[in-house]
Amino acid sequence: MNLRAAAAKIICDVMDGVSLADALPARSVQFNDSRDQAFLQAVSYGVCRGYFRLDAILKRLLDKPLKTKDQDIYCLMLVGLYQLTDMRVPAHASVAETVAATSVLKKIWAKGLVNAVLRRFQRSAQEINAEIQQHESAIYSHPVWMIDMIRQDWPADWKDILVANNQHPPFSLRVNQKNNSRETYLKKLTDAYLIPETQAGIVLKDATDVRQLPGFAAGDVSVQDGAAQLAAELLGVAEQERVLDACAAPGGKTTHILELMPRLEKLVALDHDETRLLLVKENLQRLKLTADIICADAGNVEQWWDGKLFDRILLDAPCSASGVIRRHPDIKMLRQVDDMVRLAKEQLLLLTALWPLLKPGGLMVYATCSVFSLENTRVLESFIAATPDVKEEKINASWGRECAIGRQILPGMHNMDGFYFACLKKMKKSFVRNDHAY
Ligand SMILES: C[S@@+](CC[C@H](N)C(=O)[O-])C[C@H]1O[C@@H](n2cnc3c(N)ncnc32)[C@H](O)[C@@H]1O
Repeated sequence: MNLRAAAAKIICDVMDGVSLADALPARSVQFNDSRDQAFLQAVSYGVCRGYFRLDAILKRLLDKPLKTKDQDIYCLMLVGLYQLTDMRVPAHASVAETVAATSVLKKIWAKGLVNAVLRRFQRSAQEINAEIQQHESAIYSHPVWMIDMIRQDWPADWKDILVANNQHPPFSLRVNQKNNSRETYLKKLTDAYLIPETQAGIVLKDATDVRQLPGFAAGDVSVQDGAAQLAAELLGVAEQERVLDACAAPGGKTTHILELMPRLEKLVALDHDETRLLLVKENLQRLKLTADIICADAGNVEQWWDGKLFDRILLDAPCSASGVIRRHPDIKMLRQVDDMVRLAKEQLLLLTALWPLLKPGGLMVYATCSVFSLENTRVLESFIAATPDVKEEKINASWGRECAIGRQILPGMHNMDGFYFACLKKMKKSFVRNDHAY
């Protein structure tokens, strides 16, 4: 197999709706050399990151569109263009290898086309680059609908958000403070610094294989972005409490909650994805922690709830993931504008279904890794309007931006992922508002 052909297949997978996190490992297994795997990763992430720019270039280089069955050749040309625009591979080698990949894809007829397109780009790069600068989608390499939504929600920040989304993310760690203080752990690393907004976060300047991290197997550290670490901190669990992590997989926040307070009465880690729950189990084992793992639809409470109220609930809701595009650039290709209303409905449904499970006086933390108000403040506005016994607890923090409801970290802010949090207190009966909507 040729690396460029494999990269083209990965991009095709993403165009067909498969996530990069699934497509890349599946197509990398055939390469044994770690340098080949690293090249494949760099190219496939790079093409997804630059997709809307590269696509605009390619459309200008082709005389007519390709047939649907030749999507692999289209993707191969994107791979070729990415090497010419963004990689330090000698241009002649990039072109030659990309053209050679047509045989591996069993499309020898496309040799001439791929060669002509890449050479045309080499001749007219300046002109084409100037032309695409007229289009925001190409300039920022995002779909138009996403740019419009981000601009509408964040009129003063939209450009910064789009630029941050195209940066490489930091390699962030969470020190297990049950095992060691982060200052002690920091000393074991070279070229690393604390994330001051968090209690346990560290950024390691150069990404590494997690197995090489000191004490990883022994559970001394986990990989987690700084913003994601704020969820468990906000939940603020106490001894002997009953806690629900309603959308738990792969367990980043479940394990953090338990590291902060191992002596809970119970922590239920719920998710409807059986395969992802295996990762929760794996993470708990490595960190020597325990939770009750349940595979069920959180919104279908009768299916799984034992009838005992929870002191705290974390709802890390399924969302567009528009705040973590720098880690998952394929989101720009996978997400469609029509997904947004469906997601907002699902988020409101989960909030509404889980609220009765919270004790009066209890706290629910609603979190998303989204920057869209549609999934954040607007979901909460609807929920609060329809729920008499809820009161927002304002988050007083040094990080992020205060919103009408909740608090938002924008991508890249404090070198963190984009995340949204709101804390909802369940009022005791005597304090329930009587201005609710029904
Ligand atoms: C943002 S991820 C959770 C990340 C996790 N909290 C962590 O920190 O590792 C959202 C999760 O919600 C799960 N999910 C989505 N809809 C669900 C539902 N109706 N019931 C239970 N889990 C659901 C997905 O399978 C996914 O694992």
